[in-house]
Amino acid sequence: MEDPQLFSEYGGAYRRLAAQLLDEVWPSLSWPDAPQPVLEVGCGPGILTREVLVPRLPPSTVIVASDVNPAMVKHAKEQNAVPAVKAYEVLDVMDADVTKTAVWQHGPYGKVFGVMVLHWVPDNRRALHNIYKLLAPGGEAVFTLKAYCTMFDVYRYMAKNSRWSKYMKDFDKYITPYQNSKDPACDLRNMLIEEGFEPVIVKAEPRTYVFHSDSETRGAVKSVNAFVSRIPDDEKESYIDDFLEDCYKVKMLTKEKDEKSGQITVFYHYISMVAVARKPQH
Ligand SMILES: C[S@@+](CC[C@H](N)C(=O)[O-])C[C@H]1O[C@@H](n2cnc3c(N)ncnc32)[C@H](O)[C@@H]1O
Repeated sequence: MEDPQLFSEYGGAYRRLAAQLLDEVWPSLSWPDAPQPVLEVGCGPGILTREVLVPRLPPSTVIVASDVNPAMVKHAKEQNAVPAVKAYEVLDVMDADVTKTAVWQHGPYGKVFGVMVLHWVPDNRRALHNIYKLLAPGGEAVFTLKAYCTMFDVYRYMAKNSRWSKYMKDFDKYITPYQNSKDPACDLRNMLIEEGFEPVIVKAEPRTYVFHSDSETRGAVKSVNAFVSRIPDDEKESYIDDFLEDCYKVKMLTKEKDEKSGQITVFYHYISMVAVARKPQH
């Protein structure tokens, strides 16, 4: 997940589902007459900001787009800038003191969006604590994330494989914090309440990304793999071969072929979580 170019090129299926998930919760959001700034955390290469978020926001809303990875921020600013985005900033959503960050200077925010980000964040409580602080009273946070995915079991298996283990020693940092939860929506809801939010929607349900070729599938899974950037160039493709083989074994990926046309469709299965939460007015 470190290569902005790869995620831009192969992230189409991820962005299509993100747009659908946002549309499902959008009617629950409230928009005060005077537009307030919007913060995006984990903006990645900035395509989602430009193509999905900006077109849905009320006119004259300004956005601050942020990401922990300076390469993502640079790419977003240079390749996907839009007038509505007034600043692209580096922000670790788990920052120990969010009041000292550049993002703080542009706040407080009426909305904070984190699309497919919180499963990358080992300390969700710290992230929610910071987001609560960044919001204006009455402001709302919107999250989509992976609650569970057998891909994370593949990380576990591969971390024991003698060929790949040296690159995956810290693999547990890259597993969604909800992977072993019996009721991820309940866990997230409780954490939101403990951090001061009023949960509006918190739901976990199976979802699928859909790819239309083996090469699209390969590019898409490679673009969000947490370890591929550490693998030497001459071994990267074998790493992805092993990764894909295991993803089919654990049925994270399933493939169908249309007998008439020969067209294949690959489904990427995971349990999605979507949350909307409000900071109380008083
Ligand atoms: C799957 S990408 C999603 C990008 C974008 N939101 C989208 O949906 O196209 C996850 C992003 O979260 C960022 N990220 C991971 N950990 C983060 C953290 N602690 N704070 C802020 N961003 C983080 C990654 O750098 C990456 O760009």
